[in-house]
Amino acid sequence: MTDNIHRKDRMNDKKLELIVCIGSSCHLRGSKDVVQILEKLVVSKGVGDKVNLSGSFCMGECTNGVCVSVNGKKFSLTPSTTESFFEEEVMEVLNK
Ligand code: FES
Repeated sequence: MTDNIHRKDRMNDKKLELIVCIGSSCHLRGSKDVVQILEKLVVSKGVGDKVNLSGSFCMGECTNGVCVSVNGKKFSLTPSTTESFFEEEVMEVLNK
């Protein structure tokens, strides 16, 4: 019984890992803007307690846009696609 309670607590503690590449190639493609947009969206959607937003050095996807990963799944963004990405990929996962 106690084990079940602890297991449930751990599951609730698990945050969605949202990682933005801040390597030089992604920086040139607007990673700073993407980070700022994501930070604002996390606040405006009230999901700060469910999302762990962090940065990473090169994630090996330099040929595309700004590389962002959601729980390990990689996406290629531009500042203009960041909001729709957040709705479709982040909020979608959080609402499951
Ligand atoms: S610099 Fe971002 S994936 Fe390489």
